[in-house]
Amino acid sequence: MSYKVMVINGPNLNLLGVREPEIYGKETLDGINNELKAYAEKRGADIEFFQSNHEGEIVDKIHDCLNKVNIIIINAGAFSHYSIAIRDALKAVNIPVIEVHLSNIYKREDFRHKSVISDIAVGGIYGFGSLSYKLALEAALDFLKI
Ligand code: DQA
Repeated sequence: MSYKVMVINGPNLNLLGVREPEIYGKETLDGINNELKAYAEKRGADIEFFQSNHEGEIVDKIHDCLNKVNIIIINAGAFSHYSIAIRDALKAVNIPVIEVHLSNIYKREDFRHKSVISDIAVGGIYGFGSLSYKLALEAALDFLKI
């Protein structure tokens, strides 16, 4: 059986590379995803990517993961700080979750210090720019014992 990893990105992350590069870096989301795909394939895992600016679409994608995906890596962007709907969807499917942020959310504005996903995640990685995703993938593969 091959393991499946789902990488979900929330609002405004489609603009990586253009959006506040001093905070989020110059790499595009496609660039990051290509690197993750190459690494996952080398390790024998299937990986899929989804990005949406819409809360309900992210909830639907999490539901789609039921019985298909072994672990979810999510950067829910601003939704991380207040979307109970995304938190509830992650709890509902009961799939292990790793939370990612490019920036160190604890060094930024107060409203970014709280994540409604952190306490239901296996763990989280923040503050390392695009490397945060690679570290999260490494953690996901380790969690799955691949
Ligand atoms: C982010 C941090 C969030 O506070 C912000 O709203 C984002 C990106 C990050 O990756 O650092 O959209 O999740």
